[in-house]
Amino acid sequence: MTTSLNTQTSRLVFIGAGNMANSIIGGLVSHGYPANLITATDLNAEQLEKLAQETDINTSTDNAAATATANADAIILAVKPQVMEAVTSPLKDVIANNKPLIISIAAGITVGNLLNWMGNDLPVIRTMPNTPALVQTGATGLFANNAVSEQQKALADTVFSAIGIASWFDQESDLDAVVAISGSGPAYFFMMMEAMEEAGVKLGLSAESARELTLQTALGAAKLAQASDVSTAELRRRVTSPGGTTEQAIKCFEEGGLRELVDTALQAASRRSKELAG
Ligand SMILES: NC(=O)c1ccc[n+]([C@@H]2O[C@H](COP(=O)([O-])OP(=O)(O)OC[C@H]3O[C@@H](n4cnc5c(N)ncnc54)[C@H](OP(=O)(O)O)[C@@H]3O)[C@@H](O)[C@H]2O)c1
Repeated sequence: MTTSLNTQTSRLVFIGAGNMANSIIGGLVSHGYPANLITATDLNAEQLEKLAQETDINTSTDNAAATATANADAIILAVKPQVMEAVTSPLKDVIANNKPLIISIAAGITVGNLLNWMGNDLPVIRTMPNTPALVQTGATGLFANNAVSEQQKALADTVFSAIGIASWFDQESDLDAVVAISGSGPAYFFMMMEAMEEAGVKLGLSAESARELTLQTALGAAKLAQASDVSTAELRRRVTSPGGTTEQAIKCFEEGGLRELVDTALQAASRRSKELAG
């Protein structure tokens, strides 16, 4: 039986206190989530000590003992995919009675994998966050199995809203598209920025100026698009005056097949995500 959850009174246990867990915990605590309800475990005691000093949460180097002691309402699995089975299997007995909500942020680990390793009738949420979570501007896709209650979904919403936006999907397979867009997406924009910086230098700017202008333009374009109620296509049209400079550049992108290339690239990323999940 799952316990009733209030998003601000739920006891959270993070297994693995690396980059992502640090960001989520930092975000939660800075948003007023009670630190005494949060426990984080890791192999690295020094890392835990630093996190405890910064946030005042509870820490432990013993995953099973900490999970049992905390009497967790939700366990957030934040270790690398390759150690997930070894980390989760020993928790099976510890959580057998309580049946807490299991949330995984690991790429390529399916709900089925987690049920196999931790127990068949558990409520499980599989998520796909992205790197900008590290600066609280992440985009996380989430999928919940049928055992997850609305209150548990609200809790997961609270957790991932602490690092950006949380977006729900009805099919687990939708997470492959999430990987292709937001999971891998930061790298696409980095590549575009890298290319713009290089082109700026070729046009005679210093590397510093090219970088500063490129980054601020990327940030400004995203902010403008978010603040606007028209499509990105319309925003693009509005800054593309007939016969102007932007039109020349856009024409080059179109003739070079940028749209088709983006489509092919995202299909490839989605295909790879399916392969990795087995
Ligand atoms: N970073 C991202 O942008 C991003 C985006 C989407 C999804 N993810 C997913 O998020 C998860 C965590 O990523 P991350 O970047 O935060 O990785 P990370 O910084 O390496 O954090 C993982 C932590 O888990 C610890 N750990 C390893 N084995 C453990 C065990 N048996 N018990 C307890 N802790 C253990 C690691 O310690 P050691 O360093 O000592 O091994 C490390 O501190 C991964 O599954 C990744 O796929 C990350």
